Amino acid sequence: MVNLRRTQTSDNPFQTQSNSVSSILNLLKKPQAFPLLLLIFLLLTWVSLKFQNRSYFSPQLQNPQRWSKEEDLKANLVRFLPSQLAKDKRGWLLNPVAAATDAGINGGAVTCASVHVGEIRPGGIRGNHRHYTSNETFIIWGARIKFRLENSKIVDKGYAEVVIGADEVAVAASPSGKAHALVNLDPIRTAFLLGCQDDIVNYNSSSTAYNIWNDL
Ligand SMILES: *[C@@H]1O[C@H](CO)[C@@H](O)[C@H](O)[C@H]1NC(C)=O
Ligand SMILES: *[C@@H]1O[C@H](CO)[C@@H](O)[C@H](O)[C@H]1NC(C)=O
Repeated sequence: MVNLRRTQTSDNPFQTQSNSVSSILNLLKKPQAFPLLLLIFLLLTWVSLKFQNRSYFSPQLQNPQRWSKEEDLKANLVRFLPSQLAKDKRGWLLNPVAAATDAGINGGAVTCASVHVGEIRPGGIRGNHRHYTSNETFIIWGARIKFRLENSKIVDKGYAEVVIGADEVAVAASPSGKAHALVNLDPIRTAFLLGCQDDIVNYNSSSTAYNIWNDL
């Protein structure tokens, strides 16, 4: 009985709902609704930017791979946070040879007969070659970078590989006869490197072998 009354007397709830939806739609079509629409649009933009920023700056994205000192040493690399390297508030400044020695890295250049400084844009690869006539010491920073170094002790692969976070500074060394490669994995940031070699490298086929790996 009660049920019957209810169905008889109450308006169709879908009807009222669609009425209110259509009245809102009508309202939004009026010019007065423009500030409201703009506000909604700004709010959505803010929310999406906030969301993007969060994932962009999260340590997860900067360095999603877990790292260990042990793995770094297999790649002949030591990483630092800039704050660990800075002696004062101006920031860090390194002598690559001393930095490698202080970090306990062997096999790099003891003198810089040849120095290269440059950038690697997102997605770019540098190196992927093997110098036969020079040891090389690297300082790498600025973006999320993959560093690969030939290492015969790593069974199967024959190389050690680590990923440096965008907020880290790495000191690494590649002894002569060992191939090395740097890949900028970062979607946005440019990576920077300094390479110090103990010989004037002649980039010819007898002193350097090219395109060592095709899976970088
Ligand atoms: C590279 O380092 C090795 C040992 O660390 C050294 O014997 C050699 O003279 C260095 N220079 C070159 C160009 O190989
Ligand atoms: C190639 O490089 C080596 C080592 O730097 C050098 O001795 C040789 O003369 C170079 N060869 C040519 C063809 O330039």
